[in-house]
Amino acid sequence: MTFQRVCGLSELEEDTPKRVELDGTPVSVVLTEGEVFAINDICSHANVSLSEGEVDDCHIECWLHGSRFDLRSGKPDALPATRPVPVYPVKIEGDDVLVSLSQES
Ligand code: FES
Repeated sequence: MTFQRVCGLSELEEDTPKRVELDGTPVSVVLTEGEVFAINDICSHANVSLSEGEVDDCHIECWLHGSRFDLRSGKPDALPATRPVPVYPVKIEGDDVLVSLSQES
């Protein structure tokens, strides 16, 4: 599993998603509840950026139609989205936030 640096931990603000690109894949990096999560930045319902949505209770909400995706599993807990969004393993090394595009944990 190859981890790559996406940003500095100190660049992240609690509950404020940060959009990064990793090998051309848009990823939303989220610091919430003391943990960092990485989730594909494209909503599974339509082609909009999840990083423009709000974070609450370990979920990120799509700003367009309001589906909420669990940052731990990528699963939606509200319609209209029915398919999960990929989530990616995260490692913290010092101030570096590292993400692997592999979905194996
Ligand atoms: S585009 Fe995200 S819920 Fe519709």
